[in-house]
Amino acid sequence: MIILGIETSCDETSAAIVKGDKNNQKVTLLSNIVATSLSLHTKTGGIIPEVAAREQIKYIIPVINEALQKASLNLLDIDTIAVTTGPGLIGSLLVGVETAKTLSFILKKPIVSVNHLYGHIYANFINDPLCKDIIEFPALALIVSGGHTDLVLIKKHGDIVWLGGTRDDAAGEAFDKVGRLLNLPYPAGPVIEKLSEKGDSQKYKFPRPLIDSSDFDFSFSGLKTAVLREVLDKKLSKSETSDICASFQKAIIDTLIAKTIKASEKYNVKSILLGGGVAANLKLKESITVKVNEKLPNVKIFIPAKNLCTDNAAMICTAAFFNYKKTSWKDIDANPEDYFI
Ligand code: KG4
Ligand code: ZN
Repeated sequence: MIILGIETSCDETSAAIVKGDKNNQKVTLLSNIVATSLSLHTKTGGIIPEVAAREQIKYIIPVINEALQKASLNLLDIDTIAVTTGPGLIGSLLVGVETAKTLSFILKKPIVSVNHLYGHIYANFINDPLCKDIIEFPALALIVSGGHTDLVLIKKHGDIVWLGGTRDDAAGEAFDKVGRLLNLPYPAGPVIEKLSEKGDSQKYKFPRPLIDSSDFDFSFSGLKTAVLREVLDKKLSKSETSDICASFQKAIIDTLIAKTIKASEKYNVKSILLGGGVAANLKLKESITVKVNEKLPNVKIFIPAKNLCTDNAAMICTAAFFNYKKTSWKDIDANPEDYFI
């Protein structure tokens, strides 16, 4: 089955093509094109939804064409269209959803509606020839992106239970807001990661909110305020900025790891899956892998390649393949608030 996927939930415009093998339950990536309007948002220090959507209207057709070319296929080779219908920015979602509906109508091919957060989880199911391990259920997924921080239990494909999430800022949002306080460019996650390499993560004692709470919730807005108090009206040296970045990053990572381990123990999972832009953070990857190996030696941890952690359409194709519910184009709509709960 050849699936064309379309993802436009935030500022990226992405199209991908995968080949799904039903017998082996395997997804092979044929192409994954991502265009971003990030340089425009760097100027404004964040995404202006209207600006993002207008750029996506320009990019969507060229990006689909490039995905087809790279896969050496044409539109008639496509069996199914998968599209992110939510959650996300309404203007951005509409660009992808209306394009997908039009293609579905013209080509007379079914369409599958995909939740963006499921997409982040399913980035882990794209076949990686270098990875010998197999994802076994039950699995726990930690989704950490610019808009979301969620822990979910996956009992099997299509059977997902939400365990907890952030009560205020998402992990990526905290990186971006702290970046703003430190006058760093947007998106600040990768910049803070880089500056942290030279910083002392023990220098500032930032809080780890809710780290010992009995639920699986997170809260990062207090952490952001603690950083604000530290930097307010101060002219920071380069090394002080690096120390703040490293200490802040460590506070986020410690909290994410503590809750992930706790949920994995409680639900006796066999695999842990990471997803979302923050999962591209090398320090998080290293630290969580070490902790899981130490505390839960029988549990396998999976983290997608960097380009599959941030928003992309390959993960949308893959989520559609493993949760195949085909629909008519008439029954698909953008749903910006399609959260887990
Ligand atoms: O998943 P994503 O591409 O878009 C959303 O669905 O939100 O995530 C983007 C978020 C941004 O907040 C960005 O700062 C953060 O992921 N991010 C990182 C890193 N790369 C991206 N955060 C920490 N370290 C990184 N290396
Ligand atoms: Zn995302």
